[in-house]
Amino acid sequence: MIEQTLSIIKPDAVERNLENKIKSFFKAKNLKILKSKKVQITKEEATEFYKEHQTKPFYQNLCNYLSSGPIVVMILEGEKAISINREIMGATDPLKAEEGTLRKIYGISIDKNSVHGSDGLESAKTGIGFFFDK
Ligand code: CDP
Ligand code: MG
Repeated sequence: MIEQTLSIIKPDAVERNLENKIKSFFKAKNLKILKSKKVQITKEEATEFYKEHQTKPFYQNLCNYLSSGPIVVMILEGEKAISINREIMGATDPLKAEEGTLRKIYGISIDKNSVHGSDGLESAKTGIGFFFDK
């Protein structure tokens, strides 16, 4: 099934000018970058975006971090885009991420792990709607 998913290049990776390198990973796996823009969100917007994590101990840190600098938000499209993007990203903790994944190669730590990707159809829909107009 052709899907769309939300991808975000987080502040640590934008800061290190990794945008084009990261985008080449998506293209190499046949994910089309339908839309892409660089934005900076407020702490309030980050708390809304990550509200599924509001009870977690890392929530405040996470929201501070995502709003701390420019990010690149993208709509990726392709066959099984949601799970393929998660494979390209690797595990949340760069120390546990598989060889060759974005988080293994570029991630600094579990919080500065360079990329975000939707984890299912529902979060892809709400994530895309959060950043892009219809
Ligand atoms: O991003 P992913 O879906 O792989 O992981 P998550 O469990 O949905 O957590 C969202 C984000 O919270 C992660 O990407 C990390 O940046 C951050 N996090 C953290 O700072 N400390 C943790 N122990 C777990 C997650
Ligand atoms: Mg997640």
